[in-house]
Amino acid sequence: MMNKAVENAAKKVALITGGASGLGFATAKRLVRDGVCVALADIKADQLAKAAATLAMPGDRVRTYVLDVTDPAAVQRVTAQVHADYGHIDILVTSAGISYQGTVLDNPLEAWNRVIGINLTGSYLCAQAAARFMAERRKGRIVMLASITGQQVWSGRVAYAASKGGVLALAKSCAIDLAPYGITVNSVSPGPIRTPQTASLHNQVIQDAIRNATPMARYGEPDEVADAIAFLASDDSRFVTGHDLVVDGGLTSAAILYDLKTNPLRN
Ligand SMILES: NC(=O)c1ccc[n+]([C@@H]2O[C@H](COP(=O)([O-])OP(=O)(O)OC[C@H]3O[C@@H](n4cnc5c(N)ncnc54)[C@H](O)[C@@H]3O)[C@@H](O)[C@H]2O)c1
Repeated sequence: MMNKAVENAAKKVALITGGASGLGFATAKRLVRDGVCVALADIKADQLAKAAATLAMPGDRVRTYVLDVTDPAAVQRVTAQVHADYGHIDILVTSAGISYQGTVLDNPLEAWNRVIGINLTGSYLCAQAAARFMAERRKGRIVMLASITGQQVWSGRVAYAASKGGVLALAKSCAIDLAPYGITVNSVSPGPIRTPQTASLHNQVIQDAIRNATPMARYGEPDEVADAIAFLASDDSRFVTGHDLVVDGGLTSAAILYDLKTNPLRN
């Protein structure tokens, strides 16, 4: 019988930031199902433990790492630890992120710095740390969570929108810089998805506005984003780099929705 270390050495390894919740956790579930070893990194230690218990995989298939992605030294340390624990890192998914409601007139600088620090600088630091290991093996997949808000902004989300616009440009820059090293870098831009983040931020007015503006007339589910990420993390996407994959039920394709009675999804 193969021992655990040898067995895991043959498997792909994915480091997922923000892996304790929402889209990061859904991605972990999907990748575990695909036979990938998953390193969940998140700032919330208690949530991490719950996430790992829910995945309930034997051996070292799932490990957890407490990490604040805004701390450059911690990012280096945890990435090196994941590399030491598994021997290689094949996939990085940057899903650590926060949102904040504030307009350009009232958004506090502290909130601006926090949102940019986690969503944009955190993605940059993690991509840099993981890519340095991936470059040695001349292969890797990096998938960054952007948002449709990075291109079509919403009311009162000045810091969040700016951070996600930055992530879109960051992913493309990384794609170009890392192509010679066999590493692909893409982003996924979800529309509104049912996660703890949206549950805490979207009141009834926002929920109704979203459903009315979305051709598929609903929020997306976390596993629908995870499936898109899994494609970009797989060998099937080997010639796809610098791409942003929008997962939004048609929301950003629709300028105006009218004659709603012809849409059987709306009663
Ligand atoms: N849910 C949506 O509708 C939606 C839509 C578009 C984009 N996104 C993006 O997808 C990503 C995941 O969102 P989600 O809905 O799963 O949110 P979530 O709140 O459920 O999960 C985010 C995770 O990031 C972690 N995190 C926060 N700050 C951190 C830090 N400094 N270091 C490490 N981990 C940290 C949180 O603890 C949490 O577990 C975010 O970047 C978000 O902006 C979400």
